[in-house]
Amino acid sequence: MFKGKKLKLLSPGSKFMKILHISDSHISASHFHKEALKKSLSELKKERYDLFVHSGDITQSGKLEEYKKAQKIFKKINIPKIFVPGNHDKRSGGISMFKNFIGKTNGVRDLGDSVIIYVDSGVADTNDGRVGMTKFNMIKENLKKYQQKEKKILVLHHHIVPTPKAGRERNVLSNAGDILDLILRYDVDLVLLGHKHYPNVYKIENTVFANAGTVSDKKTRHGDVNSYNTIVFDKEKVGVSIKRINNTEIKKSYSRLSKRYYYDFGEKKCRIAHMSNSFISTSNKFKYINFINAVKKINKSNVDLVIHCGGIVEEGIQRNYETAYKYLSQIEPKIIYTPAGRDINYLGYHLFPEYFGEIDQSYEIKNILFQGISSSQYDSKIGIIGRTERENLFKKINDNENEMKCLFLHHNVMPILHSREKGLLEDSGDLLKNIVDNSISLVLTGTSSHAYALKIEGSIIVNANSISSVYQRSVHGNSFNFIDIYEKVIVVYEINSLWGTRRILGMWER
Ligand SMILES: [Fe+2]
Ligand SMILES: [Fe+2]
Repeated sequence: MFKGKKLKLLSPGSKFMKILHISDSHISASHFHKEALKKSLSELKKERYDLFVHSGDITQSGKLEEYKKAQKIFKKINIPKIFVPGNHDKRSGGISMFKNFIGKTNGVRDLGDSVIIYVDSGVADTNDGRVGMTKFNMIKENLKKYQQKEKKILVLHHHIVPTPKAGRERNVLSNAGDILDLILRYDVDLVLLGHKHYPNVYKIENTVFANAGTVSDKKTRHGDVNSYNTIVFDKEKVGVSIKRINNTEIKKSYSRLSKRYYYDFGEKKCRIAHMSNSFISTSNKFKYINFINAVKKINKSNVDLVIHCGGIVEEGIQRNYETAYKYLSQIEPKIIYTPAGRDINYLGYHLFPEYFGEIDQSYEIKNILFQGISSSQYDSKIGIIGRTERENLFKKINDNENEMKCLFLHHNVMPILHSREKGLLEDSGDLLKNIVDNSISLVLTGTSSHAYALKIEGSIIVNANSISSVYQRSVHGNSFNFIDIYEKVIVVYEINSLWGTRRILGMWER
Protein backbone atom coordinates (compact mmCIF):
# COMPACT_ATOMS: atom_id res chain seq x y z
CA MET A 1 0.00 0.00 0.00
CA PHE A 2 2.74 2.50 0.89
CA LYS A 3 4.66 3.20 -2.31
CA GLY A 4 7.00 5.94 -3.46
CA LYS A 5 10.58 7.07 -2.98
CA LYS A 6 9.83 9.46 -0.10
CA LEU A 7 8.48 6.62 2.03
CA LYS A 8 10.00 6.55 5.49
CA LEU A 9 9.39 3.41 7.49
CA LEU A 10 9.15 4.18 11.16
CA SER A 11 9.04 1.67 13.92
CA PRO A 12 6.90 2.10 17.04
CA GLY A 13 8.87 4.11 19.55
CA SER A 14 10.40 6.31 16.86
CA LYS A 15 10.89 9.93 17.91
CA PHE A 16 9.16 11.23 14.76
CA MET A 17 5.41 10.84 14.35
CA LYS A 18 3.13 11.74 11.48
CA ILE A 19 -0.63 11.98 11.95
CA LEU A 20 -3.45 12.32 9.43
CA HIS A 21 -6.29 14.09 11.25
CA ILE A 22 -9.71 14.33 9.63
CA SER A 23 -13.08 15.24 11.08
CA ASP A 24 -16.77 15.66 10.33
CA SER A 25 -17.04 13.40 7.28
CA HIS A 26 -20.87 13.35 7.65
CA ILE A 27 -21.21 10.26 5.48
CA SER A 28 -24.78 10.20 4.11
CA ALA A 29 -26.82 10.18 0.95
CA SER A 30 -27.22 13.97 0.75
CA HIS A 31 -24.52 15.85 2.70
CA PHE A 32 -21.53 13.82 1.71
CA HIS A 33 -18.79 15.05 -0.65
CA LYS A 34 -17.26 11.66 -1.43
CA GLU A 35 -14.37 12.93 -3.58
CA ALA A 36 -13.15 15.24 -0.81
CA LEU A 37 -12.91 12.35 1.64
CA LYS A 38 -11.13 10.26 -0.99
CA LYS A 39 -8.62 13.06 -1.51
CA SER A 40 -7.78 13.27 2.20
CA LEU A 41 -7.36 9.51 2.46
CA SER A 42 -5.06 9.50 -0.58
CA GLU A 43 -2.48 11.12 1.76
CA LEU A 44 -2.01 7.65 3.22
CA LYS A 45 -0.74 6.40 -0.15
CA LYS A 46 1.73 9.26 -0.62
CA GLU A 47 3.62 8.99 2.64
CA ARG A 48 3.90 6.78 5.65
CA TYR A 49 1.70 7.95 8.53
CA ASP A 50 1.95 6.57 12.04
CA LEU A 51 -1.57 7.41 13.16
CA PHE A 52 -4.98 8.16 11.64
CA VAL A 53 -7.48 10.19 13.70
CA HIS A 54 -11.14 10.93 12.93
CA SER A 55 -12.47 13.37 15.52
CA GLY A 56 -16.17 12.61 15.07
CA ASP A 57 -19.36 13.25 13.10
CA ILE A 58 -18.40 10.28 10.98
CA THR A 59 -22.00 9.95 9.82
CA GLN A 60 -24.66 12.58 9.16
CA SER A 61 -27.44 11.12 11.26
CA GLY A 62 -26.27 7.91 12.92
CA LYS A 63 -28.24 5.67 10.54
CA LEU A 64 -27.44 2.03 9.78
CA GLU A 65 -26.65 2.53 6.08
CA GLU A 66 -24.34 5.45 6.92
CA TYR A 67 -22.43 3.35 9.46
CA LYS A 68 -22.14 0.49 6.94
CA LYS A 69 -20.71 2.88 4.36
CA ALA A 70 -18.28 4.35 6.94
CA GLN A 71 -17.09 0.92 7.98
CA LYS A 72 -16.40 -0.01 4.36
CA ILE A 73 -14.36 3.19 3.80
CA PHE A 74 -12.30 3.21 6.99
CA LYS A 75 -11.57 -0.51 7.37
CA LYS A 76 -9.08 -0.20 4.50
CA ILE A 77 -6.81 1.95 6.67
CA ASN A 78 -4.18 -0.34 8.11
CA ILE A 79 -2.24 1.91 10.45
CA PRO A 80 -3.23 2.61 14.10
CA LYS A 81 -6.52 4.51 13.93
CA ILE A 82 -8.61 6.41 16.46
CA PHE A 83 -12.27 7.38 16.08
CA VAL A 84 -14.51 9.28 18.49
CA PRO A 85 -18.24 9.82 18.05
CA GLY A 86 -19.63 13.27 17.32
CA ASN A 87 -23.09 14.64 18.05
CA HIS A 88 -24.36 13.49 14.63
CA ASP A 89 -23.16 9.91 15.22
CA LYS A 90 -25.31 9.74 18.35
CA ARG A 91 -28.54 10.66 16.58
CA SER A 92 -31.15 7.95 16.02
CA GLY A 93 -29.58 5.83 18.79
CA GLY A 94 -26.45 5.71 16.63
CA ILE A 95 -24.07 5.11 19.54
CA SER A 96 -24.81 1.35 19.58
CA MET A 97 -24.00 1.15 15.86
CA PHE A 98 -20.80 3.16 16.43
CA LYS A 99 -19.65 0.40 18.76
CA ASN A 100 -20.55 -2.31 16.21
CA PHE A 101 -19.26 -0.70 13.04
CA ILE A 102 -16.47 1.63 14.17
CA GLY A 103 -15.19 0.57 17.60
CA LYS A 104 -14.86 1.69 21.20
CA THR A 105 -16.16 5.17 22.01
CA ASN A 106 -13.57 5.88 24.74
CA GLY A 107 -10.15 4.44 25.37
CA VAL A 108 -6.38 4.66 25.54
CA ARG A 109 -3.86 3.61 22.92
CA ASP A 110 -0.21 3.11 23.90
CA LEU A 111 2.10 3.52 20.90
CA GLY A 112 5.50 3.25 22.55
CA ASP A 113 6.76 6.79 23.14
CA SER A 114 3.27 8.23 22.69
CA VAL A 115 -0.15 7.74 24.23
CA ILE A 116 -3.53 8.69 22.77
CA ILE A 117 -6.52 9.15 25.06
CA TYR A 118 -9.84 9.44 23.25
CA VAL A 119 -13.30 10.20 24.65
CA ASP A 120 -16.87 10.57 23.52
CA SER A 121 -17.85 14.18 24.31
CA GLY A 122 -21.43 14.00 23.01
CA VAL A 123 -24.74 14.05 24.83
CA ALA A 124 -27.21 11.68 23.08
CA ASP A 125 -29.83 13.32 20.86
CA THR A 126 -28.48 16.84 21.38
CA ASN A 127 -25.68 18.84 19.79
CA ASP A 128 -24.25 19.65 23.21
CA GLY A 129 -20.87 18.58 24.47
CA ARG A 130 -19.96 17.37 27.92
CA VAL A 131 -17.28 15.17 29.45
CA GLY A 132 -18.96 13.57 32.46
CA MET A 133 -17.19 12.79 35.74
CA THR A 134 -16.35 9.15 34.85
CA LYS A 135 -14.69 10.17 31.60
CA PHE A 136 -13.05 13.21 33.23
CA ASN A 137 -11.48 10.89 35.82
CA MET A 138 -10.51 8.41 33.11
CA ILE A 139 -8.58 11.17 31.30
CA LYS A 140 -6.99 12.33 34.55
CA GLU A 141 -5.94 8.81 35.66
CA ASN A 142 -4.39 8.07 32.28
CA LEU A 143 -2.56 11.39 32.10
CA LYS A 144 -1.11 10.54 35.52
CA LYS A 145 -0.25 6.98 34.48
CA TYR A 146 1.37 8.02 31.21
CA GLN A 147 2.91 11.32 32.28
CA GLN A 148 6.41 10.16 31.29
CA LYS A 149 5.38 9.58 27.64
CA GLU A 150 7.13 11.89 25.21
CA LYS A 151 3.92 12.63 23.31
CA LYS A 152 0.53 12.84 25.03
CA ILE A 153 -2.44 13.25 22.71
CA LEU A 154 -6.12 13.77 23.56
CA VAL A 155 -8.91 13.33 21.00
CA LEU A 156 -12.53 14.44 21.33
CA HIS A 157 -15.19 15.88 19.07
CA HIS A 158 -16.44 19.12 20.65
CA HIS A 159 -14.15 22.13 20.63
CA ILE A 160 -12.67 23.20 23.96
CA VAL A 161 -11.42 26.67 23.01
CA PRO A 162 -13.60 29.16 21.08
CA THR A 163 -12.87 28.86 17.37
CA PRO A 164 -13.12 31.66 14.79
CA LYS A 165 -15.81 31.88 12.11
CA ALA A 166 -17.87 29.32 13.98
CA GLY A 167 -20.77 31.54 15.00
CA ARG A 168 -22.09 31.52 18.54
CA GLU A 169 -20.30 29.29 21.01
CA ARG A 170 -23.36 27.28 22.03
CA ASN A 171 -21.78 23.87 21.54
CA VAL A 172 -18.59 24.32 23.49
CA LEU A 173 -18.29 21.59 26.14
CA SER A 174 -20.36 22.51 29.18
CA ASN A 175 -17.31 21.83 31.37
CA ALA A 176 -14.67 23.11 28.94
CA GLY A 177 -12.94 25.16 31.68
CA ASP A 178 -12.27 22.06 33.77
CA ILE A 179 -11.06 20.04 30.76
CA LEU A 180 -8.81 22.90 29.65
CA ASP A 181 -7.31 23.16 33.14
CA LEU A 182 -6.71 19.38 33.23
CA ILE A 183 -5.00 19.49 29.83
CA LEU A 184 -2.68 22.34 30.85
CA ARG A 185 -1.97 20.91 34.30
CA TYR A 186 -0.82 17.56 32.84
CA ASP A 187 1.03 19.14 29.93
CA VAL A 188 -0.86 17.33 27.16
CA ASP A 189 1.13 17.97 23.97
CA LEU A 190 -1.59 17.81 21.36
CA VAL A 191 -5.41 17.99 21.41
CA LEU A 192 -7.31 16.97 18.27
CA LEU A 193 -10.85 18.27 17.83
CA GLY A 194 -13.56 18.86 15.25
CA HIS A 195 -17.25 19.86 15.31
CA LYS A 196 -17.22 23.48 14.14
CA HIS A 197 -16.46 22.78 10.47
CA TYR A 198 -13.76 25.44 10.39
CA PRO A 199 -10.06 24.60 10.76
CA ASN A 200 -7.98 26.42 13.37
CA VAL A 201 -4.79 25.87 15.36
CA TYR A 202 -3.72 27.55 18.61
CA LYS A 203 -0.95 26.95 21.10
CA ILE A 204 -2.03 27.50 24.70
CA GLU A 205 0.85 27.25 27.17
CA ASN A 206 2.63 24.04 26.01
CA THR A 207 -0.36 22.44 24.31
CA VAL A 208 -1.27 22.62 20.62
CA PHE A 209 -5.03 22.55 19.97
CA ALA A 210 -5.78 21.48 16.38
CA ASN A 211 -9.37 21.80 15.20
CA ALA A 212 -9.94 20.09 11.87
CA GLY A 213 -12.45 21.52 9.40
CA THR A 214 -15.01 19.26 7.80
CA VAL A 215 -13.34 16.74 5.52
CA SER A 216 -16.39 15.98 3.36
CA ASP A 217 -19.61 17.62 4.59
CA LYS A 218 -21.12 19.90 1.95
CA LYS A 219 -22.07 22.19 4.84
CA THR A 220 -18.91 24.26 5.19
CA ARG A 221 -18.81 27.70 6.85
CA HIS A 222 -18.22 31.09 5.20
CA GLY A 223 -18.07 29.46 1.75
CA ASP A 224 -14.94 27.53 2.72
CA VAL A 225 -13.95 24.24 1.07
CA ASN A 226 -13.36 20.89 2.76
CA SER A 227 -10.08 20.40 4.59
CA TYR A 228 -8.03 18.11 6.83
CA ASN A 229 -4.86 18.37 8.91
CA THR A 230 -1.51 16.63 8.73
CA ILE A 231 0.67 16.80 11.81
CA VAL A 232 4.37 16.18 12.22
CA PHE A 233 5.40 15.72 15.78
CA ASP A 234 8.82 15.16 17.31
CA LYS A 235 10.68 15.94 20.50
CA GLU A 236 11.38 19.53 19.48
CA LYS A 237 8.30 20.72 17.61
CA VAL A 238 4.69 20.17 16.59
CA GLY A 239 3.96 21.15 12.98
CA VAL A 240 0.35 21.33 11.81
CA SER A 241 -0.64 21.77 8.14
CA ILE A 242 -4.22 22.69 7.33
CA LYS A 243 -4.75 21.26 3.84
CA ARG A 244 -7.75 22.44 1.87
CA ILE A 245 -8.98 20.38 -1.06
CA ASN A 246 -8.36 23.34 -3.41
CA ASN A 247 -4.66 22.55 -2.81
CA THR A 248 -3.97 25.52 -0.53
CA GLU A 249 -2.09 24.87 2.68
CA ILE A 250 -1.53 26.78 5.93
CA LYS A 251 1.45 25.63 7.98
CA LYS A 252 2.03 26.31 11.66
CA SER A 253 5.01 25.16 13.65
CA TYR A 254 5.41 25.34 17.42
CA SER A 255 8.52 24.71 19.45
CA ARG A 256 8.21 22.26 22.33
CA LEU A 257 11.33 23.64 23.97
CA SER A 258 9.78 26.25 26.25
CA LYS A 259 11.74 28.55 28.50
CA ARG A 260 10.45 28.41 32.02
CA TYR A 261 12.89 30.34 34.19
CA TYR A 262 13.58 34.04 34.19
CA TYR A 263 16.44 35.97 35.73
CA ASP A 264 16.03 39.32 34.01
CA PHE A 265 12.54 40.90 34.08
CA GLY A 266 13.75 44.29 32.80
CA GLU A 267 12.36 47.58 34.10
CA LYS A 268 9.04 47.47 36.00
CA LYS A 269 6.40 49.34 34.01
CA CYS A 270 3.37 49.23 36.24
CA ARG A 271 1.14 47.28 38.61
CA ILE A 272 -2.53 46.78 37.78
CA ALA A 273 -5.18 45.73 40.30
CA HIS A 274 -7.82 43.74 38.43
CA MET A 275 -11.16 43.13 40.12
CA SER A 276 -14.70 42.16 39.28
CA ASN A 277 -18.12 41.21 40.61
CA SER A 278 -18.01 43.37 43.74
CA PHE A 279 -21.87 43.16 43.66
CA ILE A 280 -22.11 46.18 45.96
CA SER A 281 -25.50 46.57 47.63
CA THR A 282 -27.02 46.98 51.06
CA SER A 283 -27.87 43.26 51.14
CA ASN A 284 -25.88 40.61 53.03
CA LYS A 285 -24.78 39.07 49.71
CA PHE A 286 -22.19 41.88 49.54
CA LYS A 287 -19.30 40.95 51.85
CA TYR A 288 -18.24 44.49 52.71
CA ILE A 289 -15.39 43.44 55.02
CA ASN A 290 -13.77 41.55 52.15
CA PHE A 291 -14.16 44.63 49.97
CA ILE A 292 -12.75 47.06 52.55
CA ASN A 293 -9.75 44.82 53.28
CA ALA A 294 -9.06 44.47 49.55
CA VAL A 295 -9.15 48.27 49.16
CA LYS A 296 -6.68 48.71 52.05
CA LYS A 297 -4.32 46.22 50.38
CA ILE A 298 -4.60 47.99 47.02
CA ASN A 299 -3.98 51.43 48.59
CA LYS A 300 -0.69 50.34 50.14
CA SER A 301 0.65 48.22 47.24
CA ASN A 302 1.97 50.82 44.75
CA VAL A 303 -0.84 50.16 42.30
CA ASP A 304 -0.80 52.39 39.21
CA LEU A 305 -4.24 51.54 37.83
CA VAL A 306 -7.33 49.64 39.01
CA ILE A 307 -9.55 47.95 36.41
CA HIS A 308 -13.02 46.86 37.47
CA CYS A 309 -14.31 44.30 34.95
CA GLY A 310 -18.00 44.66 35.75
CA GLY A 311 -20.55 43.40 38.25
CA ILE A 312 -20.04 46.64 40.20
CA VAL A 313 -23.52 46.57 41.75
CA GLU A 314 -25.87 43.71 42.55
CA GLU A 315 -28.60 45.24 40.35
CA GLY A 316 -28.78 48.51 38.42
CA ILE A 317 -30.84 50.49 40.96
CA GLN A 318 -29.98 53.90 42.41
CA ARG A 319 -29.54 52.80 46.02
CA ASN A 320 -26.89 50.28 44.92
CA TYR A 321 -25.12 52.88 42.77
CA GLU A 322 -25.00 55.32 45.69
CA THR A 323 -23.54 52.64 47.98
CA ALA A 324 -21.08 51.49 45.28
CA TYR A 325 -19.88 55.06 44.71
CA LYS A 326 -19.11 55.46 48.44
CA TYR A 327 -17.16 52.19 48.63
CA LEU A 328 -15.27 52.66 45.35
CA SER A 329 -14.32 56.26 46.24
CA GLN A 330 -12.07 54.79 48.93
CA ILE A 331 -9.75 53.39 46.26
CA GLU A 332 -6.83 55.85 45.90
CA PRO A 333 -5.26 54.91 42.52
CA LYS A 334 -6.99 55.74 39.21
CA ILE A 335 -9.88 53.32 38.52
CA ILE A 336 -11.57 52.46 35.22
CA TYR A 337 -14.68 50.34 34.59
CA THR A 338 -16.57 48.20 32.12
CA PRO A 339 -20.16 47.11 32.86
CA ALA A 340 -21.71 43.68 33.37
CA GLY A 341 -25.33 43.03 32.42
CA ARG A 342 -26.46 43.57 36.03
CA ASP A 343 -24.81 47.05 36.12
CA ILE A 344 -26.98 48.26 33.26
CA ASN A 345 -30.29 46.54 33.97
CA TYR A 346 -33.27 48.48 35.42
CA LEU A 347 -32.08 52.13 35.58
CA GLY A 348 -28.41 51.11 35.43
CA TYR A 349 -27.91 52.07 31.78
CA HIS A 350 -28.45 55.71 32.84
CA LEU A 351 -26.85 55.43 36.27
CA PHE A 352 -23.54 53.95 35.06
CA PRO A 353 -22.45 57.11 33.15
CA GLU A 354 -23.69 59.34 36.01
CA TYR A 355 -21.62 57.58 38.65
CA PHE A 356 -18.72 55.92 36.81
CA GLY A 357 -18.28 57.56 33.40
CA GLU A 358 -18.48 56.35 29.80
CA ILE A 359 -19.49 52.77 28.96
CA ASP A 360 -16.30 52.08 26.94
CA GLN A 361 -13.39 53.52 28.93
CA SER A 362 -9.69 53.56 28.18
CA TYR A 363 -6.48 54.70 29.87
CA GLU A 364 -2.86 55.05 28.85
CA ILE A 365 0.08 54.61 31.15
CA LYS A 366 3.83 54.00 30.49
CA ASN A 367 3.26 53.45 26.78
CA ILE A 368 0.52 50.88 27.46
CA LEU A 369 -3.06 51.24 26.26
CA PHE A 370 -5.88 49.71 28.34
CA GLN A 371 -8.99 49.68 26.18
CA GLY A 372 -12.38 48.65 27.56
CA ILE A 373 -15.26 47.24 25.51
CA SER A 374 -18.76 46.61 26.79
CA SER A 375 -19.75 42.98 26.21
CA SER A 376 -23.03 43.36 28.12
CA GLN A 377 -26.49 44.28 26.88
CA TYR A 378 -29.18 46.10 28.80
CA ASP A 379 -31.86 44.08 27.01
CA SER A 380 -30.39 40.58 27.19
CA LYS A 381 -28.41 38.34 29.51
CA ILE A 382 -26.01 37.15 26.82
CA GLY A 383 -22.58 38.67 26.34
CA ILE A 384 -21.80 39.66 22.79
CA ILE A 385 -19.74 42.33 21.05
CA GLY A 386 -20.86 41.93 17.44
CA ARG A 387 -19.02 42.25 14.14
CA THR A 388 -19.34 46.03 13.64
CA GLU A 389 -18.27 46.80 17.21
CA ARG A 390 -15.33 44.41 16.88
CA GLU A 391 -14.15 46.07 13.69
CA ASN A 392 -14.38 49.54 15.30
CA LEU A 393 -12.61 48.30 18.41
CA PHE A 394 -9.59 46.90 16.57
CA LYS A 395 -9.38 49.92 14.31
CA LYS A 396 -9.22 52.11 17.43
CA ILE A 397 -6.59 49.85 19.01
CA ASN A 398 -4.45 49.65 15.87
CA ASP A 399 -4.62 53.44 15.36
CA ASN A 400 -3.27 53.92 18.88
CA GLU A 401 0.49 54.37 19.00
CA ASN A 402 1.29 52.88 22.39
CA GLU A 403 3.77 50.02 22.36
CA MET A 404 1.62 47.55 24.34
CA LYS A 405 -2.12 47.02 23.86
CA CYS A 406 -4.44 45.56 26.50
CA LEU A 407 -8.15 44.92 26.37
CA PHE A 408 -10.67 44.57 29.19
CA LEU A 409 -14.27 43.38 29.16
CA HIS A 410 -16.72 41.59 31.43
CA HIS A 411 -17.41 38.28 29.63
CA ASN A 412 -14.99 35.41 29.22
CA VAL A 413 -13.10 34.75 26.01
CA MET A 414 -11.69 31.46 27.33
CA PRO A 415 -13.50 28.72 29.25
CA ILE A 416 -13.01 29.16 33.00
CA LEU A 417 -12.51 26.46 35.61
CA HIS A 418 -15.73 25.32 37.37
CA SER A 419 -17.84 27.87 35.50
CA ARG A 420 -19.92 25.48 33.32
CA GLU A 421 -19.41 28.07 30.58
CA LYS A 422 -22.18 30.41 31.62
CA GLY A 423 -20.06 33.51 31.16
CA LEU A 424 -18.51 32.78 27.78
CA LEU A 425 -18.95 35.56 25.24
CA GLU A 426 -21.22 34.45 22.37
CA ASP A 427 -18.75 35.62 19.73
CA SER A 428 -15.66 34.62 21.70
CA GLY A 429 -14.35 32.55 18.76
CA ASP A 430 -14.04 35.62 16.57
CA LEU A 431 -12.88 37.96 19.33
CA LEU A 432 -10.17 35.52 20.41
CA LYS A 433 -8.89 35.27 16.84
CA ASN A 434 -8.81 39.11 16.63
CA ILE A 435 -6.91 39.21 19.93
CA VAL A 436 -4.31 36.70 18.74
CA ASP A 437 -3.95 38.16 15.23
CA ASN A 438 -3.63 41.75 16.53
CA SER A 439 -1.03 40.75 19.16
CA ILE A 440 -3.02 42.06 22.12
CA SER A 441 -0.59 41.47 25.01
CA LEU A 442 -3.09 41.25 27.85
CA VAL A 443 -6.83 40.64 28.09
CA LEU A 444 -8.68 41.10 31.38
CA THR A 445 -12.11 39.56 31.91
CA GLY A 446 -14.39 39.39 34.91
CA THR A 447 -17.19 36.86 34.93
CA SER A 448 -17.62 33.21 36.02
CA SER A 449 -16.25 34.10 39.50
CA HIS A 450 -13.04 32.08 39.44
CA ALA A 451 -9.53 33.46 38.96
CA TYR A 452 -7.65 32.01 36.02
CA ALA A 453 -4.79 32.97 33.70
CA LEU A 454 -3.15 31.44 30.65
CA LYS A 455 -1.24 32.37 27.55
CA ILE A 456 -2.67 31.66 24.10
CA GLU A 457 -0.15 32.29 21.31
CA GLY A 458 1.24 35.75 22.27
CA SER A 459 -1.73 36.91 24.40
CA ILE A 460 -2.12 36.53 28.15
CA ILE A 461 -5.74 36.15 29.26
CA VAL A 462 -6.57 36.82 32.92
CA ASN A 463 -9.93 36.35 34.61
CA ALA A 464 -10.79 37.75 38.06
CA ASN A 465 -12.87 36.07 40.75
CA SER A 466 -15.54 38.03 42.60
CA ILE A 467 -13.83 40.42 45.02
CA SER A 468 -16.66 40.61 47.55
CA SER A 469 -19.79 38.64 46.68
CA VAL A 470 -21.11 35.49 48.36
CA TYR A 471 -21.50 34.14 44.82
CA GLN A 472 -18.05 32.83 43.91
CA ARG A 473 -16.63 29.46 42.89
CA SER A 474 -13.08 29.22 44.22
CA VAL A 475 -11.88 27.29 47.26
CA HIS A 476 -9.34 30.11 47.66
CA GLY A 477 -12.16 32.52 48.48
CA ASN A 478 -13.01 36.02 47.19
CA SER A 479 -10.06 37.62 45.48
CA PHE A 480 -8.69 40.19 43.05
CA ASN A 481 -5.53 40.08 40.92
CA PHE A 482 -2.30 42.03 40.81
CA ILE A 483 -0.71 42.14 37.38
CA ASP A 484 2.90 43.32 37.35
CA ILE A 485 4.06 44.39 33.91
CA TYR A 486 7.82 44.43 33.40
CA GLU A 487 9.74 45.22 30.24
CA LYS A 488 10.15 41.51 29.45
CA VAL A 489 7.80 39.58 31.74
CA ILE A 490 4.23 39.71 33.06
CA VAL A 491 3.48 38.21 36.49
CA VAL A 492 -0.10 37.60 37.65
CA TYR A 493 -1.01 37.02 41.32
CA GLU A 494 -4.37 36.27 42.89
CA ILE A 495 -4.82 38.11 46.22
CA ASN A 496 -7.35 36.88 48.77
CA SER A 497 -9.69 39.81 49.55
CA LEU A 498 -10.09 39.15 53.25
CA TRP A 499 -6.58 38.08 54.29
CA GLY A 500 -4.35 39.52 51.57
CA THR A 501 -2.59 36.17 51.00
CA ARG A 502 -1.32 35.64 47.47
CA ARG A 503 -1.10 32.83 44.93
CA ILE A 504 0.78 33.02 41.64
CA LEU A 505 -1.51 32.43 38.66
CA GLY A 506 1.29 32.61 36.12
CA MET A 507 4.43 34.25 34.82
CA TRP A 508 5.12 34.70 31.14
CA GLU A 509 7.56 36.35 28.81
CA ARG A 510 5.98 39.27 26.97
FE1 LIG B 1 -20.05 18.13 12.14
FE1 LIG C 1 -20.45 18.05 15.55
